[in-house]
Amino acid sequence: MKIFKNKLFRIRILILLFLLQMTGSLLAQTAMINVSSRNKTSLNGQWQVILDPAGAGDWKQVWQEKKPQIKTDFVEYSFDGGPYLKVPGDFNSQLCELTYLEGTVWYKKQFENSLQPGKRLFLHFGAVNYIADVYLNGEKIGSHEGGFTPFQFEITNKVKTGTNTIVVKVNNHRKGNGIPGFGYDWFNYGGITRDVDLIETNTSYIEDYFIQMKKGSLNKVLGWVQLNGAQTAQNIKIKIPELNLVCKARTDEKGHAKVEFSSRFKLWSPETPKLYKVIVECENDVVTDSIGFRSIEVKGTKVLLNGKPIFLKAVNIHEENPYKKARAYSIDDARILLNAAKELRCNFVRLAHYPHSENMIREAEKMGLMVWNELPVYQHIQFSDSIVTRKLELMLNEMVRRDRNRCGVVVWSLSNETYPGTPNRNEALIDLTKKCKALDSTRLITHVINTQTYKDNSFNVWDPLYQYSDLIAINEYIGWYIPWQGKPSETKWQISLPDKPVFVSEFGGEALYGSNSGPTDEAAYWTEAYQEKIFVNQTEMFSTIPNLCGVCPWLLFDYRSLGRMNQQYQNGYNRKGLLSENGNKKKAWFIMRDFYNKK
Ligand code: GCU
Repeated sequence: MKIFKNKLFRIRILILLFLLQMTGSLLAQTAMINVSSRNKTSLNGQWQVILDPAGAGDWKQVWQEKKPQIKTDFVEYSFDGGPYLKVPGDFNSQLCELTYLEGTVWYKKQFENSLQPGKRLFLHFGAVNYIADVYLNGEKIGSHEGGFTPFQFEITNKVKTGTNTIVVKVNNHRKGNGIPGFGYDWFNYGGITRDVDLIETNTSYIEDYFIQMKKGSLNKVLGWVQLNGAQTAQNIKIKIPELNLVCKARTDEKGHAKVEFSSRFKLWSPETPKLYKVIVECENDVVTDSIGFRSIEVKGTKVLLNGKPIFLKAVNIHEENPYKKARAYSIDDARILLNAAKELRCNFVRLAHYPHSENMIREAEKMGLMVWNELPVYQHIQFSDSIVTRKLELMLNEMVRRDRNRCGVVVWSLSNETYPGTPNRNEALIDLTKKCKALDSTRLITHVINTQTYKDNSFNVWDPLYQYSDLIAINEYIGWYIPWQGKPSETKWQISLPDKPVFVSEFGGEALYGSNSGPTDEAAYWTEAYQEKIFVNQTEMFSTIPNLCGVCPWLLFDYRSLGRMNQQYQNGYNRKGLLSENGNKKKAWFIMRDFYNKK
């Protein structure tokens, strides 16, 4: 009997190893950082596509691009003869037959390669929503799940001299065990939505680094550099020419080197968004970055930027170019959204509800806008599924690795409006918070909650996650989803953790720009005056909130969300924007701008 048991155990181990080998080798790698500074070849542009709403491409194995071999052969798929789609860019906004597609599109791109000996080659994606299955020359090289973070595959030993063919299966179906899950209030743009690059490196290269101010310091940097492929210890240099600063270090057996240096930095702030040219060197690689230095911390009930209390004048932004009705991705898209935030007198943008493009983060930093970076852990998430908790950790790593050198990012937000009653929600998110702190202890970490109760004009605010958050972040829609129960100026607050800063991360209501004919005291007419009144009352209520460190109206622009089906006023748009999708300022916009002007 014992022999049988051992045999069974061995068989199980072999099956597990096979599955790990299958999944392990086919999972994308967490991407190297600072792609813009690398030796890269862009694969952006026109890609051939096969539209596959029936999901037939898998069993036809379209990535093999079979060709007829004999006179009686024929093949019932081809990229040739089909349409092209622009990469980067969502597919829904490019072809009218794809407008509402939640399904599969197969993309194809060819490139010429002449990789020299001693060089390595990587295929890097800025983001693909939602699942990418990637094939090179007919062979699957891996998959990635998650629509808003970068990933890469090393193809050094898979690429051939001459013409190579990439095929990417993109599927944007919502998934019950996805992140986000089935239900969310934004447009599910699918596609290869950000840049695609081939990156060539030496055998060892600078994969990652962390160069930011030490927590609570105004002059000391505590960081590290991580090499990939280094067989022996290497000398590392961090140079900041403008400060005549050179910091030297040496990597350990894992290619890791700690760095520590001090200087009298010109600190980054909204008023002075100073960025330094920083050169990171090892013995056979060099990358250049633009890095700012600042301190962000919570002290008691205040948020301190560079040691001084700051009021966070924020606005929520979705990653959508309102004028193109498409997923935003470019520097121009970023500037449209961020300039509108600056015009509202903001010093802070909450990039809802997922990591936006690196263009958005870098442009915000240059413009002096602090950034709230958020995982798409939105409402209904299957926290008790172990695959989901694994995905949470992967997405966290991808977000933090890409942006942790961006001093403009001051908040990592790990969830939005999840429900305390969901099985394993508290445990999973508390664990995720600890993992985030281990990855980056220099920034504020928070969860966004809407579990507060509002009764007799009094808020009772409590959630198990608050004790693990640096901020008490509350979404409340008094005046829209819930009528006022008394004078805004007489609102009472019962906050379970009274010694933390409170941030109103969402508030507002809907209005159709130009809708001013209906009764202005009735919500059902989507009048600007009704929305304006919400903002007047909300800004009055803010004075009653203890330890208020900032507010963040939902949201900057009207944006597409198919669940918004009132065909008189919404037409597939969430109309809580302070601006219409054509950039028109609603009456409420002026209330918010004046409130911020007085701050
Ligand atoms: C929620 C949610 C938003 C949503 C908003 C609304 O608070 O966080 O994503 O769009 O409310 O109902 O408009």
